[in-house]
Amino acid sequence: MARREASFICQNCGAVYGRWQGKCDACGEWNTIAEENAASARPQMPGRAPRKGRAFALEALAGATHDAPRLASGIAEFDRVTGGGFVRGSVLLLGGDPGIGKSTLLIQVAATLARAKQRAVYISGEEAVAQVRLRAERLGLAGAQVELAAETSIEDIVATLGEGETPRLVIIDSIQTMWTDLVESAPGTVTQVRASAQALIRFAKRSGTAIILVGHVTKDGQIAGPRVVEHMVDAVLSFEGEGSQQFRILRAAKNRFGPTDEIGVFEMTGGGLREIANPSELFLSERDLGSPGTAVFAGIEGSRPLLVEIQALVAPSSLGTPRRAVNGWDQNRLSMVLAVLEAHCGVRLSGHDVYLNVAGGLRIQEPAADLAAAAALVSSLAGSSLPADAVYFGEISLSGAVRPVAQTASRLKEAQKLGFARAVLPDAGRAEGTGGDAGLSLQSVGSLASLVADIAAQGKAHDRRQPSDGRRERSDDRTSATDARARKADAG
Ligand code: TYD
Ligand code: MG
Repeated sequence: MARREASFICQNCGAVYGRWQGKCDACGEWNTIAEENAASARPQMPGRAPRKGRAFALEALAGATHDAPRLASGIAEFDRVTGGGFVRGSVLLLGGDPGIGKSTLLIQVAATLARAKQRAVYISGEEAVAQVRLRAERLGLAGAQVELAAETSIEDIVATLGEGETPRLVIIDSIQTMWTDLVESAPGTVTQVRASAQALIRFAKRSGTAIILVGHVTKDGQIAGPRVVEHMVDAVLSFEGEGSQQFRILRAAKNRFGPTDEIGVFEMTGGGLREIANPSELFLSERDLGSPGTAVFAGIEGSRPLLVEIQALVAPSSLGTPRRAVNGWDQNRLSMVLAVLEAHCGVRLSGHDVYLNVAGGLRIQEPAADLAAAAALVSSLAGSSLPADAVYFGEISLSGAVRPVAQTASRLKEAQKLGFARAVLPDAGRAEGTGGDAGLSLQSVGSLASLVADIAAQGKAHDRRQPSDGRRERSDDRTSATDARARKADAG
């Protein structure tokens, strides 16, 4: 009789304890430790003699490799993130908040593949077949030959998939709802999720089928269940977006077969997810021209340039410790820029609350955004708007110098394509950029202090010309006629 070895496992991080406790020492979460039967999770039963190891041949590192044959999904933004399509036998984990559109995206992927005459199977553990069908109908995909099932037993799923022609793509929505007979824990527990994922990964490697596992995300953005699943799979993708906004961004946190810095941009519409081939246009479409505190950053995401608006609000604070809130950018980076502004540029911000926001729910990781963020902050503090036709990029060093960044030319080209007329950039970027050819006027700044002086001077000139009326103007009605009208109204 096998001895039951109960152990207590944190459902958040997978740490194992000998007894129950309220808080996990490993990850600091409360109430995440649950009892699980570990013994039966082991493939080898206690009491049975250990199997003798089988010798296998070792191979040389040099040797014939078959280039991983890929299957493009047919959705370009998705393929960009995976690195050109699904690799045979690979397993992807797709995480994201509930309702963000994971199921929608994957049914679209499955349908596109099915239309290209590849066998695609969609297994839902959360929704009934009728619900999945209903969604496909809404998306206009009902005609695609996707094979559907509402199943949660891993053994049944593997047995079914093993029959007939090998599917090219299998979608498991979601891994947390799956369970295997091999272990006794309840579905959704760490042990179950791990064992189910293992069984599916074994099937994928054996058959060459690509599998996408949907994973739920906890409130702090991690894929619920064990982090170990992230280590087991070939790629971890996350689908992100602000609930209130229509943009959805797909990124890779890990990718054994491709880059991790590419993003795919989608828009959630009534008819499902629409690919956004030129995200800059989307991120700039809602711009508030002429209001102080906004700067356009010419960034690079992966291999593609991306323009995005950075918004800052600097307001007098009534708090002892002023507030520093940032959305879409690194908090430490903001602290650094603020410190440089104080120390080297004479900009006093210690009595002000500072809010910084990247428009459109995008998350920027590049240090090149420093200059745009600083410009937005100073513009908000000075109450003077930055030129609407300028883009900013450059890294700020602790000494207050503006340092060059990579890929100047493609940043400038994108800016020019979207109708911008000038770029504010590091000194060295000027030579490299050859932006003059792109028709942009380049203003190079060697130090943050000179940019601050520029913005302050612009503000003064602007004040003399036209008293600020605090009105927000949209891009399309910012003509000289409305300017003249506004001036007349202010005068009268
Ligand atoms: P869903 O794919 O079910 O999210 P997840 O699987 O990540 O939980 O998407 C649910 C949301 O998407 C829902 O709030 C409605 C919205 N939606 C649309 O706006 N348009 C559509 O065509 C579809 C199918 C869903
Ligand atoms: Mg879903």
